[in-house]
Amino acid sequence: MIPHGDLVARLAAVVGERHVVTDADVTAGSCVDWTGRYRGATPALVQPGSVDEVAAVVALCNEQRVAVVPQGGNTGLVGGGVPLDGEVVLSLRRLGQVGPVDPDAGQVTAGAGATVADVHRAAAAAGWAYGVDFASRDSATVGGSIATNAGGTRVLRYGDTRAQVVGVEAVLADGSVVSHLGGLVKDNTGYHLPSLLCGSEGTLGIVTAARLRLVAPAAERVTALLAFSATGPAVRAASMLRRSMGSLEALELFLDNGLGLVCEALGLTRPFPDRHGAYLLVEAAGPSDPLDQLSEVVGSIHDVADVAVASDSVRRAQLWRYRDGLTEAINTLGPPHKLDVGLPAGRLAAFLDEVPAVVVAVPEAASARTWLFGHVGDGNVHVNVTGLAPDDDRVDAAVLDLVAGMGGSISAEHGIGRAKRQWLSLSRSDAEIAAFRAIKAALDPAGILNPNVLLPPIA
Ligand code: LAC
Ligand code: ZN
Repeated sequence: MIPHGDLVARLAAVVGERHVVTDADVTAGSCVDWTGRYRGATPALVQPGSVDEVAAVVALCNEQRVAVVPQGGNTGLVGGGVPLDGEVVLSLRRLGQVGPVDPDAGQVTAGAGATVADVHRAAAAAGWAYGVDFASRDSATVGGSIATNAGGTRVLRYGDTRAQVVGVEAVLADGSVVSHLGGLVKDNTGYHLPSLLCGSEGTLGIVTAARLRLVAPAAERVTALLAFSATGPAVRAASMLRRSMGSLEALELFLDNGLGLVCEALGLTRPFPDRHGAYLLVEAAGPSDPLDQLSEVVGSIHDVADVAVASDSVRRAQLWRYRDGLTEAINTLGPPHKLDVGLPAGRLAAFLDEVPAVVVAVPEAASARTWLFGHVGDGNVHVNVTGLAPDDDRVDAAVLDLVAGMGGSISAEHGIGRAKRQWLSLSRSDAEIAAFRAIKAALDPAGILNPNVLLPPIA
């Protein structure tokens, strides 16, 4: 292993001394994940300012067999972007440029370090919109959202991040650059590297820029919060709304304990005088005002217990706060265990109803609290459990077993990272994992690219 001082000096020769940070007080923020559950240390935080510098850094680390964790906004939730085994942290934040929007194609090329909010702003300024959105938009980066194939609240309408990526530029483990940013919508010339890199969690290459498709902006938008007595009617209503409204853009579910926590933690007033078993946040958007259609559809759902509807942006933002504030509010209770899972639509309500009892049945989890919310239109539930020791995985195992038993996925949108790699076989067969390993070995033979995430350690 190269001595630390030599490595730092050689990295500094590539990116400039001030872009290699070794002071532990300064690197500390890059060594802990957003939840505070995953904490590590790094010999160096390297901040290259161009794709050529990224390539030179990666080539050097490859030659020296130094493991690298790529990092964007550090908003990941599965411990996949922090140096838990003393890796070098390669920050992409300086690659923050968003190019001009191509008005003919409705596309934009963005640097890996641009935030998702930067892309929204650039798209809006040019009369377009970006189809991916989630609560950490101001910090989460384009590169990180591609590496994790981020989902969010609009997957229902526009698909996940993978569905927006028309092309990528990425640095491979040997320092070579693969770049395909021409933006052709139809381009059937072999393996589709954007698909492979989306969701690869920094294990196959480091995304440095991406060509993103944009979507038509919605001139009119309406948001409604619907209350139900229980999860069953809420899930049924979600399905009915999907069937009846082409303009549906978001369909989010949360329960009463989560609503109470958000109101308490963020100082909000409850939306309804009474408490209810489950809530659906519905947003519809399109060229013409969807209010009448939404009112009509909601009016036809017999078991809606209460409704709040908003068309103006201030009131709509207030309704969204109940949903977007959940992650933040839960974190005020200490580092949660986060299990982002996907269920077949037909098992969703049963899962929501069963999971709290499964949690408290785990030894030493009797007083743990379970918070359930998520993107119900995609069958995606965020199971958050508080009151557990950060390194006690027994609840995680019990919940993921329940998910797998119902035919679900152990990760719907956050990825596998460090948090779930030991359970990958619950969702992937031996043959699939062997294929994953073969791809990893072919593209990163020395195993330097985020080597401690996604794939389970070989026993
Ligand atoms: C959300 C993030 C946590 O849906 O995925 O709020
Ligand atoms: Zn989510």
